[in-house]
Amino acid sequence: MKNTMMQSLEHKSILLIITGGIAAYKALELVRLLKKNRAHVRCVLTKGGEHFVTPLSLAALSEETVYTDLWSLKDETEMGHIRLSREADLIVIAPASADFIARTACGLAGGLAGALLLAADKPVLLAPAMHHKMWLTPATQAHVQTLKQRGFHLIGPVEGDMACGEYGPGRMSEPPEILQAIQGFFGHRPLSGKTALVTSGPTFEPIDPVRFIGNRSSGKQGHAIAAALAALGAQVTLVSGPVALPDPPGVKTHHVETAVQMLKTCEDTLNSAQTLDIAVCAAAVSDWRPETALDHKIKKRQTPRAPELNLTENPDILKTIAHANKRPALVIGFAAETENLEENARNKRTRKGCDWLMANLVGQENAPVFGENHSHVYLLRDEKTLEDWGVSSKTDTAQKLAEAIAVHFSSDFKG
Ligand code: CTP
Repeated sequence: MKNTMMQSLEHKSILLIITGGIAAYKALELVRLLKKNRAHVRCVLTKGGEHFVTPLSLAALSEETVYTDLWSLKDETEMGHIRLSREADLIVIAPASADFIARTACGLAGGLAGALLLAADKPVLLAPAMHHKMWLTPATQAHVQTLKQRGFHLIGPVEGDMACGEYGPGRMSEPPEILQAIQGFFGHRPLSGKTALVTSGPTFEPIDPVRFIGNRSSGKQGHAIAAALAALGAQVTLVSGPVALPDPPGVKTHHVETAVQMLKTCEDTLNSAQTLDIAVCAAAVSDWRPETALDHKIKKRQTPRAPELNLTENPDILKTIAHANKRPALVIGFAAETENLEENARNKRTRKGCDWLMANLVGQENAPVFGENHSHVYLLRDEKTLEDWGVSSKTDTAQKLAEAIAVHFSSDFKG
């Protein structure tokens, strides 16, 4: 496969601002990835950032001087904070701490990073990272809104384990995700002109107004695929069940609860689009739903025995899309299997009528489970070959799949 990623950041200059937060250690990996993709990287390290990573590590990785001080006579005479921002094609702040976001929203220029941002005439990408309570607090949210209104771009934060042992939204996006967003700015867009529909997350099937049948799907894989396709230039519609994830940037997202609603939204999207090129069904659709959803809460005290649930089968969204009159050119399904992966995957691909099937092994000892960030994936492109993609993060799997889709369409085009 042609490595399109290797070419896309050549001659591009990234000014990376690293502020104070434990996620600063990931900035080292980001610099490494940017360099690997041939970008020119210059780092500005704030006083807070210096508590977590050293100028020496950043200088070694970026092969450039690292700037830390607005008042450095040497740096100001040699480079100057105005030039620092003017010579960059894109300014990336990763991690962007709550304090730095607040200062930037207020336009404070007391430090080098604040001053160069005020003087900047280049796009700015923020990758926030902080404790989930700090992220959710109205003050931070208001500052983020202010910055968004001023044209700042945002990636993340994502929900996950925090360094303090708590869990919630506030974790910085992983370096490969940030890299992908950066590439998005510079036009590595082999899917531009293509339209895609992605389903993601679980479905909740109501029993009564307060109870439902659901499953543990987090939606991470489907959302990452929607984001990866959009980053490569596709026009993406995401139909998401109930998840605790932000809508992916640049993706038109519809929120649904049930399988019937998910199907209706997918069909509406399919019918209203002139053509839909790609469908990726990553949702963990509930196979059954209660035959009737009561409009009042079942009261335990007024129900002598545990109520019986009559279930009825839900529509198969993937199968419906794969057999639709306006069938997308490439329909991709997912399979979560606990055993006989290869045989089950082949049968499922045929039964559903999809072109590609991504199969995951779940529920085995040592196998990744629903909701985790990593999974062992296999891709079945036809009835014969099962490609082992190994264990990788859901973001990496999404990027690899999006690249594979791009290659599929480019070879299609060449005939
Ligand atoms: N799927 C769907 N609609 C359904 C059930 C599944 O669109 N009602 C899609 C999923 O999004 C996934 C694929 O079908 O892409 C396979 O889902 P899976 O749950 O593994 O398959 P099932 O059809 O439920 O088969 P089984 O439970 O027998 O493994």
